[in-house]
Amino acid sequence: MQCRRRHCYIRIAVLLASLGCAVLIIFVQHVRQTRLKNNVLTELTYKKAEATPRSSIKFLTNGTLSFTQQALRSLAREENVESILKVEPYKYIINEPDKCRKKMAFLVLLIPVQPKNIEARNAIRQTWGNESLAKGIVRIFLMGVENATRNSGLQQYNLRAESQTHRDIIQQDYVESYYNLTIKTLMGMHWVSSFCPNTKYVMKVDSDMFVNTEYLHKKLLKTNIPRKMYFTGYLMRGYKPNRNRDSKWYMPPDLYPSESYPTFCSGTGYVFSGDMAKRIYTTSLSITRLHLEDVYVGLCLSKLNIEPTLPPNEFLFNHWKVVYSSCKYSQLITSHQFQPSELLKYWQDLQQNKHRACNLATDMFPRRHNYA
Ligand SMILES: *[C@@H]1O[C@H](CO)[C@@H](O)[C@H](O)[C@H]1NC(C)=O
Ligand SMILES: *[C@@H]1O[C@H](CO)[C@@H](O)[C@H](O)[C@H]1NC(C)=O
Ligand SMILES: *[C@@H]1O[C@H](CO)[C@@H](O)[C@H](O)[C@H]1NC(C)=O
Ligand SMILES: *[C@@H]1O[C@H](CO)[C@@H](O)[C@H](O)[C@H]1NC(C)=O
Repeated sequence: MQCRRRHCYIRIAVLLASLGCAVLIIFVQHVRQTRLKNNVLTELTYKKAEATPRSSIKFLTNGTLSFTQQALRSLAREENVESILKVEPYKYIINEPDKCRKKMAFLVLLIPVQPKNIEARNAIRQTWGNESLAKGIVRIFLMGVENATRNSGLQQYNLRAESQTHRDIIQQDYVESYYNLTIKTLMGMHWVSSFCPNTKYVMKVDSDMFVNTEYLHKKLLKTNIPRKMYFTGYLMRGYKPNRNRDSKWYMPPDLYPSESYPTFCSGTGYVFSGDMAKRIYTTSLSITRLHLEDVYVGLCLSKLNIEPTLPPNEFLFNHWKVVYSSCKYSQLITSHQFQPSELLKYWQDLQQNKHRACNLATDMFPRRHNYA
């Protein structure tokens, strides 16, 4: 195409200018996008740093989670689960995998106990843990390995013999210690969800308790008791972390910074529907393990948005020792602090007198004590 020289220069200039503009626009857009990307990145990193497993268990005074954003929770989950799954579930040393295949389980009794405490186990077997007391009772003792016996075989030999006789011992390879009660309880829940998933109910109960198993069984058969998502016991409401280092219930602020606990059930004895075993265990994988077992299970419930339910009446679950009378004991579920010999004595008395007429109104319960 022919053009006069001056026109040509102008056209070329316009063309170059347009090209320049286009390059400039592309450049500016590129810079803006990079900045945007960087912003998003810093935001994500910031959120990730915030979402440590610790911050995921912060609770407000009104009992709700302070981190409700799904994103934060899932980040916390990813960070914690892997490290726990590296060690859990702890290897079984003694197991009863067929216990619930042989009968229809209705109520599993999970009883944490020290391996050396054979006296307590025997008393429980003869009293409230007797599987013949009602249909579908399954008794399980939970234990780890005592340091002292790791290298001495006699106690372990005796334990195996005891297990052969009674078929009620679950022993796993974690260190037996008061501070590992949370692990022990969670392992019990894991056992239920693996080997007894169809049980209707589970009770976690300490070995120094009195339990009226028949009465509990009768109460659970009532139609108004939920079959799913149910958790009950002695409700502990509005408790604050104990910051006294010398206390058994001491909670270090760096482990649990919040100033209150969500509602939990006293660990002496609580009851839940069978489906909760798996729910609680699974949830626990994303919550930093704390040594106070009952508080910890309360945190799991709170994260699951499941509120513990008040028991059918307020005298059923007692985490102190109720003064004995056959009248009272025929109408409660738990009472605390029993030596094996006392357990045998009261149990025998209750069996002889439980059908006698009794009037609770004239045989009043003492006022409850405080958890000090
Ligand atoms: C609990 O407190 C927080 C912050 O004060 C508030 O946002 C939340 O709505 C409260 N939840 C309930 C159930 O009252
Ligand atoms: C459990 O109860 C049954 C029926 O009452 C009884 O025969 C049995 O001896 C009891 N078991 C133990 C270990 O006491
Ligand atoms: C709890 O058990 C684990 C696993 O065996 C062990 O590493 C840990 O030291 C135990 N904790 C205490 C306080 O004994
Ligand atoms: C058991 O032994 C381990 C390692 O020797 C030790 O760290 C732990 O504190 C001991 N636990 C108990 C409960 O004695």
